[in-house]
Amino acid sequence: MASSSTSPITKAIFPVAGLGTRFLPATKAQPKEMLPVVDKPLIQYAVEEAYEAGVREMIFVTGRHKRPIEDHFDMTFELEVALENSNKQELLDVVRSVKPDDMECIYVRQAQALGLGHAVLCGRRLVGNDAFAVLLADDLMVGPRAGHGVLKQMVEQFAEWRASILAVQEVPPEHTRRYGIVAGTQVNDNLMDVNRIIEKPAPEDAPSRLGVAGRYILTPGIFHEIANQPRGVGGEIQLTDGIAGLLRREKVFAYRYEGKRYDCGSKEGFLQANVELALAHPQLGAGFKQFLQELAL
Ligand code: UTP
Repeated sequence: MASSSTSPITKAIFPVAGLGTRFLPATKAQPKEMLPVVDKPLIQYAVEEAYEAGVREMIFVTGRHKRPIEDHFDMTFELEVALENSNKQELLDVVRSVKPDDMECIYVRQAQALGLGHAVLCGRRLVGNDAFAVLLADDLMVGPRAGHGVLKQMVEQFAEWRASILAVQEVPPEHTRRYGIVAGTQVNDNLMDVNRIIEKPAPEDAPSRLGVAGRYILTPGIFHEIANQPRGVGGEIQLTDGIAGLLRREKVFAYRYEGKRYDCGSKEGFLQANVELALAHPQLGAGFKQFLQELAL
């Protein structure tokens, strides 16, 4: 069970209760986290990234459409028997690898989509007093090479600093309104000691161009901050406001990760991810490239 991991971070929260309005109508009756990029749903990419980083307890904060996610990580007895009977071992391995034996999936309900901070707070009792990760599956992160995923890089930073770590990337000035933006003192090329964080500032109010991407390692002190804050931007209980409270009491670092992020909560980012990951796919890549070349003629 969870003890098979020696990682300092073994629990992760996956908030999957958002309404996904930017991706309607696809998200009318299913969570956006179940949208497939090439052949895997977004949530599976995020769970695999967490597993690679040593996380073994996956805590899903679900909303009204919780069934497809629960089913995806559950055993599919009939399908497995059918594949076994027809000797389709490779496909059977694919199906079984979705949930390794030492991985535990736990579901908690966010009755109302009151914001990302509120979703994280819903995992409080399950997380307890340990530092934990938060992964937003609609941000699809691809590490620079195999075995070097973004959360794994962050866990390495956590092992060194024992403090909250936020994944950040440089964003164009005209996009600051889409992100939490951080400012602080540079510790080294990739790490900043954060002293300010603002949710979705206008470009002229943004203290830097470093935007928070959908990966966090947080100390349990965050729960107290979220629980005691008023509603923020858009009337939502914002995780960013909780982090702003946390950094008044504890160190919080911003880590400039190595890798690429696709914003799959938007239609453009989702299409880009599909094209790039299809081109990189070991079986599909060559044929798909040829198809695109012919299209471009
Ligand atoms: P987003 O800001 O992308 O919101 O949430 P959304 O509602 O999912 O999508 P749009 O903007 O309407 O298209 C960021 C992450 O936080 C989760 C979402 O599921 C997503 O992973 N979330 C957000 C919750 O779990 N609960 C909430 O109340 C809000």
